[in-house]
Amino acid sequence: MATLLVKNIGILQTPTGSYSHRGREQGENLKLQNAAILIRDGIIAEITADGALPEGGEDADTIIDAEGKLVTPGLVEGHTHMVFGGYRQHEIPMKLKGAGYLDILRAGGGILDTVRKTRAASFEELYDKTEGFLDEMMGLGVTTCEAKSGYGLDFDTEIKMLKVLKKLDEDHPMDVVATFMGAHAIPEEYKGRADEFIDMLCEELMPYVKEYELAEFADVFTEDSVFNYDQSKKYLEKAKGLGFGLKIHADEIEAIGGSVLAGEIGAVSCEHLIAINEEGLESMAKGGVTAMCLPATSFYLGANFAPARKMIDMGIPVAVASDFNPGSCPSLNLQFVMNLACIRYKMLPEEVLTAVTVNPACAIGRGDRVGTLEVGKQGDLVIWDAPDMDMLCYRFGSNLALQVIKKGELM
Ligand code: NIG
Ligand code: FE
Repeated sequence: MATLLVKNIGILQTPTGSYSHRGREQGENLKLQNAAILIRDGIIAEITADGALPEGGEDADTIIDAEGKLVTPGLVEGHTHMVFGGYRQHEIPMKLKGAGYLDILRAGGGILDTVRKTRAASFEELYDKTEGFLDEMMGLGVTTCEAKSGYGLDFDTEIKMLKVLKKLDEDHPMDVVATFMGAHAIPEEYKGRADEFIDMLCEELMPYVKEYELAEFADVFTEDSVFNYDQSKKYLEKAKGLGFGLKIHADEIEAIGGSVLAGEIGAVSCEHLIAINEEGLESMAKGGVTAMCLPATSFYLGANFAPARKMIDMGIPVAVASDFNPGSCPSLNLQFVMNLACIRYKMLPEEVLTAVTVNPACAIGRGDRVGTLEVGKQGDLVIWDAPDMDMLCYRFGSNLALQVIKKGELM
């Protein structure tokens, strides 16, 4: 039995429970002073406070002295598009000359540019590149992450992307949860035929993805010039029938009903929400949908910031994530996202911690095992170069993750 003890923890701070936290509870964290945590065979066996040590702790195979620093659960990254060919740095000058995100997409660039590069990339190339991203994310304190397909938009490439994620979930210490996002854009060969493309996704791709267990969730980009309310609903109803959890990219640029649909159809989460209106907010609150807010995308697009403060006050569970992708957010730094959530969303440090741990864990179907530090959960934690959460929300641009522990092993 492998055991690992982390002792001399200044503050051990964590949300508790295995459910999405909303309203007042979003800001409630357990804070233990002078704490220690014992992990046995990857699972948390005991947590102590006030200088006490877990039973048998001094005999642990590995003992780490946290030297009075802050310890939190490993971060949970709830929204990425991390499998892609090439990059899109050539869009920078286009944007500076005034081209908007949807202008570039309508002209056959943007997501469609990445689709061409992802179709051309081999499995091995995508695997190696994504593995590098997972290493980088883990070094920044992330121990579980979600990742979407959606740069294939044809049978072979969507499956290639999802198989890359499945293999990396097996090979890499990171827990990787895959989402099928065939409805990410209308591919060039289906231009003007979005309904037929949705039918193809529903009839050919989705059943295959389900049969071979290549993804647990299905996601759609509900947006002007992409998929409308009816097309999104058709795609999600099919996904629901097959047993996928549902997610929607909604109200990123225009509110065309995506967040309303999220509440109506029972989506687990709804993402972006920069342009959400009252109707969407009420639908999400009523449906218990988690708002997956992506402040680094707002930052990078020079857009508004989602009304996360209002969402918390309305009782909508809020998660924050990077949205890492080659177009609207070429950064995978979840620590920067935490800074932005605090400064731009006006979320308190305790609320931010909930938004990068238990809430995204629940939104990706892992709330029963990660996202909090409690006996019986996975031994995933971070020792920070910080005495408290305030420091983590205050310093930005540096990596404050000192040591990352995944399933009781030092990474
Ligand atoms: O969530 N908005 C849609 N999808 C991604 C961006 C994809 C891309 O530009 O490559 C997002 O922002
Ligand atoms: Fe996204």
